[in-house]
Amino acid sequence: MASAFPSRGLAVDGVPVADLAGALGTPCYVYSAAAIRDAYRELDAGFDDRAHAIHYALKANSTLAIVRLLRGLGAHADANSMGEVDVALRCGFAPHEIVFTGVGKSRDELERAVMLGVHAINVESPGELDRLDQLAAARGVQARVALRVNPDIDAQSHPHISTGLRDNKFGVPIDLATGLFLDMTRRPGLRPVGVHIHIGSQITTLAPLAKAAEAASALARTLVSAGVPLEQIDFGGGLGISYDETPVPDRRAYVRTLVEAAGDIGLTLAIEPGRSIVGPAGLLVSTVVDVKHVPGGRRFVVLDAGMTELMRQALYGAFHRIEPVVPREGEAVPCDVVGPICESTDRFARDRAMTPVEVGDLVVVRDVGAYGAVLGSTYLRRPLPPEALVDGGTFTTIRRRQTLDELLQLEV
Ligand SMILES: Cc1ncc(COP(=O)(O)O)c(C=O)c1O
Repeated sequence: MASAFPSRGLAVDGVPVADLAGALGTPCYVYSAAAIRDAYRELDAGFDDRAHAIHYALKANSTLAIVRLLRGLGAHADANSMGEVDVALRCGFAPHEIVFTGVGKSRDELERAVMLGVHAINVESPGELDRLDQLAAARGVQARVALRVNPDIDAQSHPHISTGLRDNKFGVPIDLATGLFLDMTRRPGLRPVGVHIHIGSQITTLAPLAKAAEAASALARTLVSAGVPLEQIDFGGGLGISYDETPVPDRRAYVRTLVEAAGDIGLTLAIEPGRSIVGPAGLLVSTVVDVKHVPGGRRFVVLDAGMTELMRQALYGAFHRIEPVVPREGEAVPCDVVGPICESTDRFARDRAMTPVEVGDLVVVRDVGAYGAVLGSTYLRRPLPPEALVDGGTFTTIRRRQTLDELLQLEV
C-alpha cells in the first residue's frame, strides 16, 4: 500500500503521507481501503463455491468506518464483547450476522445476545452452557450455541497470543465436546449450531491451523452422524501477516487448507479473521521529536507516537518496520526508536538500522491496521489520535483527534 511518491516521499494509494500528516497532525493512523478490500476478497475467493461466512473479528480494528467497509464487502461480524456487538449493530449488521465470543461473558451480556438472536454464541465452558440454558429457557427461547473447543494444539505463535493449548483459559477440552453437544440437544434453552475453534493469532505456518481444522471437522462429523443438527464449523481467525517481509502463507492457501480439512461435510464453513484483513492496511504516522546520541553509547530517535498508540511492541516485543517518509542521504546506523512515554518498554525498535533522521522528520510504522488503534490508551492524558481512510486517491478523517475536554468529561 504505502509506496514511494516522486519527490514527496511515501504515499498511501497515491496520497502523500506528508499531506495526511499535514491535515491530521501526528501521531495519526492511516488505512488503505484498497488493501482491506483486496485482503477480504482473497479470503473470500479461497472458498470458491463452498457455503461460507467470513466473520470479521472486530477486535482487530473496530473503527466504525472500517467495520462498515467490511460489511459492504459482504463480511459478517465476530464480536468479543457487548461493546463490539453494539458497534456491529450500529454499522448495520443484522443480529443473525454476528457471532459473539468471549471467555467471561456476564449474565447481562448473555441475556442481551440471546434476546437479540445473534447467529451464534461461542460458548467457552460447561458452566456457561448451564447459565445460558436457564436464561434462555426462562424466556421461552433457544440460544444458538457454537461450543468453543480447545484442541490442545500449539499455534507456534507468541505465547501471549496462543489460545489452543490445554493450559490456556479458552474453550472446553475437545475430548469433552461430544458429551456436551449431546447434552445440549436435550436442553430446552439451547440449540447447538456449530463447532468453534480458535488456537491463536499471528500464526505464520499452516500446519497448526490445518491440524486444528482437522480436529474440529472430525468432531463435527461425529456430531452430525450422532444426529446433532449442526449448521457450521467456525475455524476462528489467526492467520499471521509478515511484519518483517519473511514470507507467510497467503490467504487463499490458508482458506483452501481449511476447506480441505472440512472435506465433503455439508456444513457452512466460517472463519473469524482480523489481522490478516486489516493488519497490513494501516500505518502509524509520527514525527521525530528528538534525536539523542549518548557519547560512546546508544543513539535514540524519539517519536511523538508511543505505546499509547501501538502497544504491540510493549506487550509482546513485536517487530514493525519503521521508515522515514522522505529518506535523507547518509549511512544507516543502529538506533533505538522510542516513544515519549515514561516507560522503558515504550520502545518501537532496538538497534534498528536507520538512515539519518532529524527533529521534525516524519516516519511511518508499518502494519498497524490490526491491534493498533484498538489497543490504544490515553495514558499520560494523551488524547486519542485521529484515523484516516484513503480510498480512490482521497482520504476521509474517520476519527478526529480527541480533545482534552472530551478525555476529561467523565470526571468531576
Ligand atoms: C475468538 C477469536 N476469533 C478471532 C480472532 C481474530 O484473530 P486474528 O486477528 O489473528 O485473525 C481472535 C483474536 O485472537 C479471537 O480471539
